[in-house]
Amino acid sequence: ALRVLSGVQPTGSIHLGNYFGAIKNYVKLQEDYDAFYCVVDLHAITAGGHDPTALEASTRTSAAIYLAAGVSPEKANVFVQSHVPAHSELCWLLNCAAPIGWLEKMIQFKEKARKAGEEVSVGLLDYPVLMAADILLYKADLVPVGEDQRQHLELTRDIAGRVNSLYGGKKWKKRKGGDVLMVPEAFTPKEGGRVMSLTDGTAKMSKSNPAEGSRINVLDTPDEIAKKLKRCKTDAFEGLEFGNPERPEANNLLTMYQLCTGLTQEEVLAECGSMRWGDFKPHLTDAVIAHLSPIQGRYKEIMDEPGYLEDVLKRGAENANEVANLTLRDVRDAMGFVQY
Ligand code: TYM
Repeated sequence: ALRVLSGVQPTGSIHLGNYFGAIKNYVKLQEDYDAFYCVVDLHAITAGGHDPTALEASTRTSAAIYLAAGVSPEKANVFVQSHVPAHSELCWLLNCAAPIGWLEKMIQFKEKARKAGEEVSVGLLDYPVLMAADILLYKADLVPVGEDQRQHLELTRDIAGRVNSLYGGKKWKKRKGGDVLMVPEAFTPKEGGRVMSLTDGTAKMSKSNPAEGSRINVLDTPDEIAKKLKRCKTDAFEGLEFGNPERPEANNLLTMYQLCTGLTQEEVLAECGSMRWGDFKPHLTDAVIAHLSPIQGRYKEIMDEPGYLEDVLKRGAENANEVANLTLRDVRDAMGFVQY
């Protein structure tokens, strides 16, 4: 079967951008693909000096949100990245094939490095290579991600191509009948691939924005959701519309409504096109709460059942280790490491 792999970093709370941009597609793709969904805890420490207690809590919470959102442990392998040592080892092997110039061009690196200044860690630069290792270990055909990760996916493709051309030449192909690594494709949703901030419709919703009011978290209470939407940025135009470049907030909030209700754009416009913000905001609030409340209910059940999450993660890690070690063995072999 074809494979998918994806992951979310356990830093801060999972928000509607993560959910609509990525996790909803995890749920969809698990039906037809051999699915691997990890919580990428090794990626969560690149800022340097993280809080260990928070990392542990956030790793569990993130895995529980995958399950609460509909990822099924019967259909998909849910695991923690650091439980599969092959990720770190392949990262090293890829590091030595990846030109540093490729990494310095990454937009996310440039933005984060600018903020971190002198203190920027080697890990921050190397982040996309670890992500490439995550994906390539599973020979993933598809990688469900939001639009902000597309550049990292391109880099992953480039790294796979480079390893194939450096170490997977004629001799390898003859012996193995194929490439060393598989070149994956990104899978981004038409709507929800880029959910914007509640306080600025031109900036993406993000975990790292210090303003809590800029995002809605999957685990926010109805009160918090209502408060954030009450205060969120709007505009002074008449009526509501999609796609007007002068109205990024209108586009974002209507899209959020569309995603929460499952309606088409036409249906949303028929229903809300002539509303004023004062009418639309409570309407949107109800839709967001109605969409999130069953997820929150399941989340609570999962967290309340002793041993359940640990059990799912253990089984997930066993399957992941098996698949990942096969690929790692091939790469080591192709690069000339003595096998044991
Ligand atoms: P992370 O943890 O920042 O985000 C997790 C997923 O959520 C998507 N996303 C968004 N989608 C729509 N609108 C937004 N505002 C928004 N914000 C975030 C991200 O695109 C992502 O799909 N590098 C990755 C984690 C990672 C990974 C991987 C992903 C590590 N290894 C292997 C896929 C495959 C990241 O930082 O995601």
